[in-house]
Amino acid sequence: MIDTSRILCIGAGYVGGPTMAVVAAKCPHIRVDVVDINEARIAAWNSAELPIYEPGLDEVVRAARGRNLFFSTDIAGGIRDADIIFVSVNTPTKTFGQGAGYAADLQHWEKTARQILAHATRDKIVVEKSTLPVRTAQAMERILDGNPAGVRFDVVSNPEFLAEGSAIADLERPDRVLIGGHDTPAGRAARRIIADIYATWVPRERIIESNLWSAELSKLTANAFLAQRISSINSISALCEVTGADVDEVAYAIGTDSRVGPRFLKASVGFGGSCFKKDILNLVYICRSHGLGEVADYWESVVAINEWQQSRFVRNMLASMFNTVAGKRIALFGFAFKADTGDTRESAAIGVARQLLAERAVVVITDPKALGSVREELPEEGDRIECEIDPYRAARGAHAIAVMTEWRIYRDLDYARIFASMEKPAFVFDGRNILDHKRLHEIGFNVYALGKAPLRHV
Ligand code: UDX
Repeated sequence: MIDTSRILCIGAGYVGGPTMAVVAAKCPHIRVDVVDINEARIAAWNSAELPIYEPGLDEVVRAARGRNLFFSTDIAGGIRDADIIFVSVNTPTKTFGQGAGYAADLQHWEKTARQILAHATRDKIVVEKSTLPVRTAQAMERILDGNPAGVRFDVVSNPEFLAEGSAIADLERPDRVLIGGHDTPAGRAARRIIADIYATWVPRERIIESNLWSAELSKLTANAFLAQRISSINSISALCEVTGADVDEVAYAIGTDSRVGPRFLKASVGFGGSCFKKDILNLVYICRSHGLGEVADYWESVVAINEWQQSRFVRNMLASMFNTVAGKRIALFGFAFKADTGDTRESAAIGVARQLLAERAVVVITDPKALGSVREELPEEGDRIECEIDPYRAARGAHAIAVMTEWRIYRDLDYARIFASMEKPAFVFDGRNILDHKRLHEIGFNVYALGKAPLRHV
C-alpha cells in the first residue's frame, strides 16, 4: 500500500518550490518535504527572503511552511519516509559529448534515480516533473528495476506547464494537469493516486490521463508550439517594417480568428527563458536520432528565427544611429527574460548587450529584479557594463534606450524628464512594443518599434 499522506520533492528550483508550496497549501492533510543538495537554496526557502521571485509565492509559502511544508537537505531521509517522490531536478542542454548543444543533460536525473534506489525500503511512485526527453521513464525504470530489496517502483510523468511570473496562478487554476503512466493495472493505479492529489483543487475534467510517452512528448510539443507562435509573429514583424503594415494590428486581426486565438502573438526582441530553446533543441535531437531530418529542420528554424530577431534588432539600432554606437551610452530597460521574474536564463537582453558591447557601446542595464545576475550572464564583459536600479539614472546621458523586458514600470515613467537628461538626438528602441510611441515622438524622441514604421525627427 502506498502511503499518500506524505510527498517528497527532490529539487527546490523554479518548478519544485512553487509547485510543492501550492500542493501543501491546497492539501493540509498531506505532509510535503522539499529537498535539494544546494544548502544555500534550502536556507533561503526557510528564510524571509525566498530564492526566487514569483508574485503570490511568499503568501503561499508563509501559509504552509512549518505546518505541512518543510525544506531540507536530507535527501536520504526524505526518500526513506515518503512513498510518492516528485523529481524536479534540472535537465539543461548538454554541453559535451554526443548530442552537445541539443540533447538534455540527464546526469542529475540519473544520480537522483540511483539515490532513490539506494534509500528506498518499500514501494514507491516516482513522478517525473523535470522536462525530459521522450522515453526517459524507461531509463529510470531500468535503473530502479535493478533493486535488490524487491521494492516496486511505478514511474509516472506529470510535466509542468507553469510559466514563470504567473506560476502561482497557473498552479492554482491550471488549463490542464497531465498525468502519464503505463497502461497496466499498476500503471493506472499509480496515475490515479497522483490524479487524486490534484483533484483536491483542480476540476476532474481538467486532469488528463495518458500513456507515459504521450505525456513526455506533450511537454516538448507544447513548448515548441508556443515558441513557434512567437517566431511566426516575429518573422512577420520584419515584413511589416518594410511594407508599412503594423504588427500589432496584424496580430489582433489574426488572433480574433478563434482557430488561432489571441494569446502569445506579441512581437518581441525574442523569446527567452529556461524552456523554449532547450525543449525545441531536445525535440530536434530526438527527431534527428530517429532519422526525421526534415522534421528536425522544421522545428530548429523556430530557434533560428529567434536568434535572427535579436541580431536584427541590434542591426536596426546601429543603422538608425548613423552606423556607429562606439562610445555611446545605451540604456537597456530590463534584463529578465520577461516581466515579473528575476530569471535571466536565455534572455534576449543578454545577446543584445553582447552585440552592443562588440560595437564598443557603453551599456547600462536597469531591471527591478534581475540585476543580480548581470555579471554571471556576461562574465567576459567585466567593467564595460554598468548596472543601475533607477531607470532615470540609467538613461541620464544616454544616446538611446532599448526596452528589453515588458515591466509595467517602464510604461509609466516620466519620459519628458528622461528626454531632457539624454544626449540628442535621443532614440528609443522598443523591443516589446509597450510604450506610447506617438507621445514619445511628440516629446522629441526618435522612436523605433518592432513591426512598425519608425517615428523620426532625424
Ligand atoms: C514557458 C511555458 O509557457 C510553460 O508552459 C512551460 O512550462 C515553460 O516554458 P516561461 O518560460 O516561464 O514558460 O515563460 P513564457 O511566459 O512562456 O514566455 C517565454 C518567452 O516568450 C518570454 O521571453 C516572453 O517574453 C516571450 N513572449 C511570450 C513573447 O515574446 N511574445 C509573446 O506573445 C509571449
